[in-house]
Amino acid sequence: MKVIVSKDYESLSKKAAVLVQSQLMWKPDSVLGLATGSTPVGLYQELIKLYQQGDIDFSEITSFNLDEYLGLPMDDQQSYYSFMRENLFDHINIREDHIHIPNGMAEDFKSECLNYESSISSHGGIDLQILGIGHNGHIGFNEPNVEFEAKTHIVSLDEETIEANKRFFDSIEDVPKKAISMGIKTIMKSKKIILMASGEGKADIISQLVKDDIKPDLPASVLHLHENVIILIDEAAASKL
Ligand code: F6R
Repeated sequence: MKVIVSKDYESLSKKAAVLVQSQLMWKPDSVLGLATGSTPVGLYQELIKLYQQGDIDFSEITSFNLDEYLGLPMDDQQSYYSFMRENLFDHINIREDHIHIPNGMAEDFKSECLNYESSISSHGGIDLQILGIGHNGHIGFNEPNVEFEAKTHIVSLDEETIEANKRFFDSIEDVPKKAISMGIKTIMKSKKIILMASGEGKADIISQLVKDDIKPDLPASVLHLHENVIILIDEAAASKL
């Protein structure tokens, strides 16, 4: 686990963009694992800038998002599909049929999870996975005490996660209580992982992640077992290290 501390959110986002850019230089048809939430928004803005300058090409990439809320249609403003369109996909040259986001409205969730997992495998697995981290240590929506062996599955969101995500909704009642998420095992199979965190609010969990042992009540701690992980944080998130 390599920890890189950047001055602030802007420089953190720029560094993450450089890592994605170099990944695509090595392998233009890379499979990228993408996250939603506030943390990667700066990275996505930097990637859009690079694209507009002609310095990056997404035409051959394939993407798989980590998760999606259950029960929100794709075109709902709060769906992660809408989030990705607005924050990245509508502004770059990714092919529509190369975008994968779990379907939160699937008729059969078991098949949806199995198909998502096998689609990742049939694309050769994820080359580079972008992660944020929840205040409770979740990655994707793998909440504390998830099984480390879990593949893409249906999860019930923790109270803390619902509380943290209510900022995107009109009221806390509107926050979906369940989601489809890649499992820890799915994430761990990625060839490279970048976990990003910014701000003082993440300082506690980053300190636990870096200093503590591997334990199921801190799902991100499993990343200690991965050979190619960069923890990319700003000084505020690093303030308790
Ligand atoms: C998002 C995701 C979550 C977030 C995490 C941090 O797809 O899977 O694990 O990365 O909740 O969210 P922010 O970045 O909003 O603090």
